[in-house]
Amino acid sequence: MKLMEYRIDAVVEAFSGAERVCVFTGAGASKESGLPTFREIDGEWKHYDPMTFATLEGFLSEPVQVWNMYRMRQRQIGEAQPNGGHSVIAQMERQYPHFLLVTQNVDDLHERAGSRKLVKIHGDCWGMRCLQCCETYDTRDFDFPAEFTTETLPICPKCEVLCRPDIVWFGEFVPDDAMHAAVWSSSTCDLMLVVGTSGEVSGGYGFVERAAMNGATIVEINPTEGILTQHAHIWVPEPAGVVLPKIWQCLTMYK
Ligand code: APR
Repeated sequence: MKLMEYRIDAVVEAFSGAERVCVFTGAGASKESGLPTFREIDGEWKHYDPMTFATLEGFLSEPVQVWNMYRMRQRQIGEAQPNGGHSVIAQMERQYPHFLLVTQNVDDLHERAGSRKLVKIHGDCWGMRCLQCCETYDTRDFDFPAEFTTETLPICPKCEVLCRPDIVWFGEFVPDDAMHAAVWSSSTCDLMLVVGTSGEVSGGYGFVERAAMNGATIVEINPTEGILTQHAHIWVPEPAGVVLPKIWQCLTMYK
């Protein structure tokens, strides 16, 4: 039996015995949908300086540039389609009564694939938030231009103060409710599926470490070995959009 088939069999066996499942995803889960990751060779942070495009200070110094990068990402995400991995994760939540998807991704591909039991710990690319009253809005509810100028930057309909993208930037905290749900799920799951994340952001790394310390089986799907792989009981070095449908087919064959 080829090593990969062995690993898939081991994953199927782990899922067959699981009751409380936590799925933790990063940008790699959307790779087969054509969206870039952040830290790979062709990643977002190779084209955009995160200190400008992923910090509040950067936004306040260059609001037009930062907003237009997010407008470009909104177009990319709008044109992308959920892949087989998103679809499997959405089906999983219906198979396991105790289930939560914790995603770092700000795209809406999990939702469009049908996931409902999810927390988005880094925000949502379509959202915007008032810098003064913190009211949040969906940018799709406004007739915004494809590209903003200084004169057309989005302002809060209530207090007419500048709005920012509703994204959790470096140096900022994950919203309490999302963090509590993610901590609870990673602390109580008996299986954690880690899909397409480098683990470079501490919050995410902590979820995996906590699950491992609580005795959960850790399954990692990532073509590249990373800092999280040390916690993985089973590491499947394959693209998520390709291998998750294979795993799901084996898993549901015997259900
Ligand atoms: N399938 C699965 N994993 C993949 C695939 C694929 N097809 N292609 C790439 N990967 C893996 C890479 O090997 C890498 O480990 O996806 C991971 C992407 O890592 P990052 O680019 O660091 O993205 P992510 O882990 O989601 O970053 C976390 O950092 O910059 C912040 O807010 C940003 O949410 C982001 C957070």
